Amino acid sequence: MKKKLKFAIVGTGSRGIGCFGQLLGQRDDVKIVALCDVNPVRVKAAAEILKISPHLYTSMDDMAAKETLDAVIITTPDCEHFPCAMKALKNGWNVLIDKPLATNAKDGKALIKEAKKSGKALMIGFNLRHSPVLKYLKKIIDDGVLGRVFIAENREFYGGGRTYMSRWNRFFSKTGGLWIHKASHDFDIFNWLLGFPKPLRVSSFAAVNVLDKDHLPFKKRPGVKPGPDCNHCPYQDECRDRYLLSKEELKLWGDEAAAADGYVKNTCMYLSKKDNHDNGLAMVEYEGGIKVSLFETFICNKSDRIYTIAGDKAVAEVSLENRTVTVTPRWSGNVTTTVVEIPEGGHGGADPGLVDTFCRVVRGEEKSTSTAEHGLLATALGQAAEISRREHRMVEMSEVL
Ligand SMILES: NC(=O)c1ccc[n+]([C@@H]2O[C@H](COP(=O)([O-])OP(=O)(O)OC[C@H]3O[C@@H](n4cnc5c(N)ncnc54)[C@H](O)[C@@H]3O)[C@@H](O)[C@H]2O)c1
Repeated sequence: MKKKLKFAIVGTGSRGIGCFGQLLGQRDDVKIVALCDVNPVRVKAAAEILKISPHLYTSMDDMAAKETLDAVIITTPDCEHFPCAMKALKNGWNVLIDKPLATNAKDGKALIKEAKKSGKALMIGFNLRHSPVLKYLKKIIDDGVLGRVFIAENREFYGGGRTYMSRWNRFFSKTGGLWIHKASHDFDIFNWLLGFPKPLRVSSFAAVNVLDKDHLPFKKRPGVKPGPDCNHCPYQDECRDRYLLSKEELKLWGDEAAAADGYVKNTCMYLSKKDNHDNGLAMVEYEGGIKVSLFETFICNKSDRIYTIAGDKAVAEVSLENRTVTVTPRWSGNVTTTVVEIPEGGHGGADPGLVDTFCRVVRGEEKSTSTAEHGLLATALGQAAEISRREHRMVEMSEVL
């Protein structure tokens, strides 16, 4: 029987408990010995929901004074990744930061420096790397089925307005922009699929075109103000985008928790103040003439990432949702479509793979594959895309890295 690893989760919101808390709780080689969240109501509710009795903290400093840990999982808002991961590394803990590494490349570099000094693992929660469909795609690229890849595209459809325009994710100050917060996944997947060619320059366009006060999906009645959040909104019956918190979510984000820190999870996504985008396009040119484009919309009733990867021997077309990889060879009509088997688990079976890998990394059984250096590259690409969209110009990677 292996010695149980002692883990703590910092940030006990959606990912902290819905992914890591649940998955770690199912393992017999790990014990969650501590939960830490700045919100005392949420950290207590998290332990109740996970049905565990760890030590509860509202400050990492207090946790560090009392706990001896093997590893910490950081699932706070992105702007807290840097200070929390710094503290964890300085305490000699292995760290997994759910993506992104940081909200800018400068902080990312400082974290890498600290990780090297500490000798501890600093891994990034790039769970898409564990998607069986994308692993299959990576294998056929590595096996040369597509030949030399020179152009790739990913179109992401995600009805994510409720996530990205209703809470902290809607602010640049909390995320460094959605090209980092959201798209660091996707930039990382391009980097990984293509074998980490050097990115040279980035351009992007992105805006809020739909999720604003001028596009409310219902007719306002005279004197009846909508909002401020779905649970309190007088239009909740007629709004097709309402997001009512469940009984369990109310324990984490209801009035009692909100009174402690003002965090409302379902602020009206149309009326909310925001400076991140609800749709956008980004393009990257890599060395060797490789080009990629990323399309994302958070205004749809569909969830998929649809990839096209073209090489000089074949083109692959992939749907994560349908789990299909279709390969059309350049000079034969032998088109094949493979439906990839996926196991249970969040993000198309990817989350359990991520957690499993981190546990083995902490045990020293393997080296992390989604390294902080990869996290830095994805963050820097997102930062360049963010500068591009704001300044309406192409951004050289040398400006951010
Ligand atoms: N890999 C993925 O697929 C994926 C998916 C969603 C979110 N994420 C990432 O996970 C992270 C968390 O996102 P979420 O949706 O769970 O957020 P959330 O808002 O649901 O939870 C964040 C929690 O952190 C707490 N917190 C804030 N500052 C803190 C601090 N300094 N110390 C301790 N706790 C603190 C908040 O009170 C909150 O409970 C984000 O970085 C996000 O980018 C990754």
